[in-house]
Amino acid sequence: MSKKWRTAISWHFDHEAYVRGYKLADIIGNLSFTEAIYLVLKGELPTEKEKKMLDAIFVSLVEHSIAPPSVIAARAVASGGNSLHVGVGAGVLAFGEAHGGALEGAMKFLQENVDRNPEEVVKEFLDKKIRIPGYGHRYYKEYDPRSKRMFEIAKVIGFFGKYCRFAEEVEKAIEKIKGKKLVMNVDGAIAAIVSEMGFDYRLGKGFFIIGRIPGLVAHTYEELVMEKPFSKRLDEEKEVEYLGNKPRELPESFKNRN
Ligand SMILES: CC(C)(COP(=O)(O)OP(=O)(O)OC[C@H]1O[C@@H](n2cnc3c(N)ncnc32)[C@H](O)[C@@H]1OP(=O)(O)O)[C@@H](O)C(=O)NCCC(=O)NCCS
Repeated sequence: MSKKWRTAISWHFDHEAYVRGYKLADIIGNLSFTEAIYLVLKGELPTEKEKKMLDAIFVSLVEHSIAPPSVIAARAVASGGNSLHVGVGAGVLAFGEAHGGALEGAMKFLQENVDRNPEEVVKEFLDKKIRIPGYGHRYYKEYDPRSKRMFEIAKVIGFFGKYCRFAEEVEKAIEKIKGKKLVMNVDGAIAAIVSEMGFDYRLGKGFFIIGRIPGLVAHTYEELVMEKPFSKRLDEEKEVEYLGNKPRELPESFKNRN
């Protein structure tokens, strides 16, 4: 009978830790961080090309301004008087389908549809009013410079294949069918590349989490050392539109009840 907990990731043999079969002490100093991440995720050591590609992916994700929800969440929570790990944790919890989390959906979309006609697929999604993960951006309306750069690198390294071509075709098909350009965002581009690299779509959010945590750590740290606690309180007059009731009297029947 199999035991209650199972793992193929790491184990201790003779009081030594082994990761995917390699002694941890041998990995230290010999593998780069990206190579070690590839090893834990994929189970094997990367080739030089795989390492370079994954490295570029993590760099593309490392930081993208103070504006996104995850940074707002991380800094707001730190501003409430919490320590670094709590702020960073709050930032990770803010990742969702519209920010950071789209990678999983984009990988699933590409892996399930890559052998189909892109226009047919896009029409199907648009008819059902389902958003296609990996397309559209709040800020980038003509192109997402990160996606452009990632595809340039994928071409040079040798990871520009059927998923990347399909992702480009989908971008064109959206513009043709919807009559509006929705750029392939960085999640879409990375989703295509990691699909070329043979990763399962259920790992999708993991790439974003691993890549963006350094940015969240930097922002939370900055909040803690540079700002006063509670600095993230909103100025109601300047920053908030009030849509509720005007001040009103509590009904007599609710008064003097204690
Ligand atoms: C990122 C996102 C939230 C930006 O949304 P937005 O600023 O409201 O988008 P826009 O104003 O440019 O476009 C709005 C229109 O495009 C549609 N649209 C936007 N993204 C779409 C998508 N991925 N697939 C299909 N239609 C989409 C909207 O339904 C809306 O259509 P309408 O005008 O007919 O009502 C949105 O594009 C989205 O949800 N994308 C999918 C998730 C994703 O990839 N997120 C990662 C972002 S880095």
